[in-house]
Amino acid sequence: MLMVDIIRKKRDGGVLSREETEFFINGYVKGEIPDYQVSALMMAIYFRGMNDEETHDLTRAMLNSGEKLDLSAVKGFKVDKHSTGGVGDKTSLVLTPMVASCGVPVAKMSGRGLGHTGGTIDKLESFKGFSTSITNEQFIHNVNTIGIALMGQTKDLAPADKLLYALRDVTATVDNMSLIASSIMSKKLAASADGIVLDVKSGSGAFMKNDNDAFELANKMVAIGKNAGVKVMAVVSDMDQPLGRAVGNAIEVREAIDTLNGKGPEDLYELCLTLGSYMLKFAGAASTVDEARSSLEDAISSGGALDKLGDLIEGQGGNRDDVCHPENLPVASKQRDLCAKEDGFVSAIKSEDVGIASLLLGGGRRSKEDVIDLSVGIYLNRKVGEQVKKGDVIATLYGNDDKKIDEAYKRLAGAYEFAANSVPAKKLIKGIVE
Ligand code: URA
Repeated sequence: MLMVDIIRKKRDGGVLSREETEFFINGYVKGEIPDYQVSALMMAIYFRGMNDEETHDLTRAMLNSGEKLDLSAVKGFKVDKHSTGGVGDKTSLVLTPMVASCGVPVAKMSGRGLGHTGGTIDKLESFKGFSTSITNEQFIHNVNTIGIALMGQTKDLAPADKLLYALRDVTATVDNMSLIASSIMSKKLAASADGIVLDVKSGSGAFMKNDNDAFELANKMVAIGKNAGVKVMAVVSDMDQPLGRAVGNAIEVREAIDTLNGKGPEDLYELCLTLGSYMLKFAGAASTVDEARSSLEDAISSGGALDKLGDLIEGQGGNRDDVCHPENLPVASKQRDLCAKEDGFVSAIKSEDVGIASLLLGGGRRSKEDVIDLSVGIYLNRKVGEQVKKGDVIATLYGNDDKKIDEAYKRLAGAYEFAANSVPAKKLIKGIVE
């Protein structure tokens, strides 16, 4: 078989056979097929798409490209959660300790930032010493002893996804439904949780820009999970504006800590309660969603969830005091305010542009090798529906380099739209796919 024939077939709208999919996945992982040919195939898939059978074959080939994590030594029903990616999406930082403090073991595999969206691992690395490059043994030990562990994707788990994820990030081939579904589900299945709760984002800051596509992606992923015999459901949630008000890395961790202290933004808290309720219900820790919700609320008011974040940080090499002293996290040296030019109401915030502004500050990657600056970011003082008076600070950029701040400022200024009258924000939870 020749890779060039596979590229040509997909370029011309053909359907790839299981053998062809396995050929390119296995060849890529072994280093026998170069990045440039796989990039070309990704672009062909981006334009031509894949049918359900091709998507299932691709997921299976990616899953089988490495090992499956053996979690049989972990007691109890293990739940995992995954977001399709958004701007300001620090949900996992709040949700996982909430769920773990309700007694449900959380064995989570997390990723790094992709395109304009952030990643949980990058954010958590704002805690000095914290590492997600832990061994399988330590991961299992931590889940068994403290009820929570977060691991980066090792080279052995779905290695094809690890390679493709980095390649797609820099070749503008992320936002394809089949590529996203196979990427997420291959690594989730390799991580061996008993239940998976998916947060599928819809809107300007998401890879799926409209609700129809987001529901289609949710259905695809739920079907793949069910086919593999795993309990899986998806929440489709709004990403037409960033989640919460902080966008970046350390700045998002601070907002997550505020939320665990009961002082966070409403949208972030509500999303965590919704996703967490299904996680608890899956695990049998609550018989109804309402019962689960009230346990999660107790985890916040009792301080148990915040304490659990401390356990997670300490358990993976960080200092638990930083959870109570978020001022210890990286802080940028410069700041610049974006101010309102006239009176009115915020009518839209193009989230993707906010994500790109954060990337331009240094908070995301332009190429696979980039090292990100954890201290930079953006704080949105005004969100959709909120009033502004001429001269008000709408948002603040935090950076370390004037040129980067200039570039990011322009992008952020273009992200805001205004109207004379108040416009309601879109509904946060758009639907559930079970
Ligand atoms: N998140 C993933 O893990 N993979 C994608 O392709 C997109 C979002």
